[in-house]
Amino acid sequence: PPKKGWPRLRALKRLVQLGVIGGIGYTSYVTYTSRHPMEQLPFDPKKRTVVILGTGWGAISFLRKINTDDYNVVAVSPRNYFLFTPLLPSCTVGTIELRSIMEPVRFITRHKSRNVKFYESECTDIDPESKTISITDVSDVKGAVTNTTIPYDYLVVAIGADNQTFGMAGVREFACFLKEIWDAQKIRTRLMDCIESAGFASQTPEEVDRLLHMVVVGGGPTGVEYAAELHDFLKDDLELWYPELADKLKITLVEALPNVLPMFSSQLIQYTERTFKQNKIEVLTKTMVKEVADKEIKVLDADKNIVSIPYGLLVWATGNCPRPLARKMMARLKHTQTSPRGILVDNYMRVAGANDIYAIGDCTFTKYAPTAQVASQQGNYLASVFDNLARIEEGQDKKITPFEYSHQGSLAYIGSDKAIADLPFLNGNVSVGGVATFVFWRSAYISTQFSFRNKFLVMGDWLKSTVFGRDVSRE
Ligand code: FAD
Ligand code: NAI
Repeated sequence: PPKKGWPRLRALKRLVQLGVIGGIGYTSYVTYTSRHPMEQLPFDPKKRTVVILGTGWGAISFLRKINTDDYNVVAVSPRNYFLFTPLLPSCTVGTIELRSIMEPVRFITRHKSRNVKFYESECTDIDPESKTISITDVSDVKGAVTNTTIPYDYLVVAIGADNQTFGMAGVREFACFLKEIWDAQKIRTRLMDCIESAGFASQTPEEVDRLLHMVVVGGGPTGVEYAAELHDFLKDDLELWYPELADKLKITLVEALPNVLPMFSSQLIQYTERTFKQNKIEVLTKTMVKEVADKEIKVLDADKNIVSIPYGLLVWATGNCPRPLARKMMARLKHTQTSPRGILVDNYMRVAGANDIYAIGDCTFTKYAPTAQVASQQGNYLASVFDNLARIEEGQDKKITPFEYSHQGSLAYIGSDKAIADLPFLNGNVSVGGVATFVFWRSAYISTQFSFRNKFLVMGDWLKSTVFGRDVSRE
């Protein structure tokens, strides 16, 4: 008998069924292969050993791409996971859970053709003469051996950067940074502590105001995105669960320059400042923090007056400075390493003044901004350099070309489901901002998640916080 219904509708139904089956098949395949890594080749003493320092954007891009058929690879880092930093501000308020943006380094190393040794430790010294590095176990639990040296043929330094404090007393002691997992945890705990203490029986009104004053120092993208996430938390959740306190909670962003987000186009800067004004986030521009104490900061304001600002939570996001290891290596190579701002490299990412040492990402000082985009492109580039080096050694005619950066645009979340984007377009630039850009921001970050597992977890967290709201329990 002839089938009922419209042929187009039937075709659509079939297409959907195929899509669902395909989706389930793909998900099962990805899950199976990621959970069941294959057998790996052992270390080969005849191959050269590449040691990579770090498990951040630069190092992990390098690790993913390096061909372990050609090299023995050793990775050293105090943290045994990769962290997707662009979504870290969302973790400070529980829009996303921390583990969703972490990827264990073993999930990457176990999928290489040759076994990659990973040592969870900090590199404390690099000796370019003997071609060795010193490493220290910095975890709380230690075995009998806690310090050792390991040799390298090639060394890749991808240790990122430290938080810039300008040597100001009190910053490390009283402020929270926003760079690592533990920073986000600390902010989340301290924020909830401030709110609960403000609600303590018979709390004085001055102390309520101080405890509920959240001050962010630094109007770069880290400071702006944190203030935006905090605003959303206040509007979506705190107003419901702490109705007696929420209207007293105040967010202030302090920036030394005349405007926030200097790397974005002027129209997006204005748009951000307007959005912050609507969201009642006070932006103090031309205001420089001069002193940090446990309950207040002193700033030099736009009128050149010293003003005290009491705070409950202080988030410090004033950019980067070199890590102690980078400084130590630069001091060893002081004739060629002449910049205090980071390791100097040539266009092939070779460290100036050293043989067989390369550096990528935030630990370097180059013409590029210290971003994940730059670090990951440099990691990919360097892996292809090593590929070419191996081919050249085999006698093939390969050329090593300098690193070229391809800018994919800048994105930032500014709160109330709005984001801003400066995107390259036909040799120019397009600046967009608003709710549609927020949708783009979310899809861009989903597509750049490290693994299928991360994509799944982050989307689950977004759904969870939309349906149930954010969790207001203390970490
Ligand atoms: P990192 O990713 O910082 O990695 C450094 C690694 O080195 C870490 O694994 C660390 O544990 C390890 N390490 C440190 N010391 C040692 C040692 N002594 N020995 C061995 N290992 C060591 N960039 C963008 O492009 N887009 C964004 O949206 C964006 N958002 C951001 C949001 C936040 C909150 C932050 C903080 C940064 C953001 N960035 C963004 C910048 C981006 O995260 C950095 O540029 C990027 O992480 C740099 O990569 P990296 O590999 O050089 O360093
Ligand atoms: P930043 O260097 O971009 O901004 C720091 C800000 O702090 C500057 O505007 C500076 O003027 C201000 N500042 C410094 N000292 C001050 C003081 N004493 N008082 C008041 N203000 C002071 O640092 P940020 O935001 O931590 O970013 C670091 C890097 O990571 C940048 O390259 C940035 O592009 C990248 N990043 C990118 C993001 C994105 O693309 N969405 C998000 C977060 C970071």
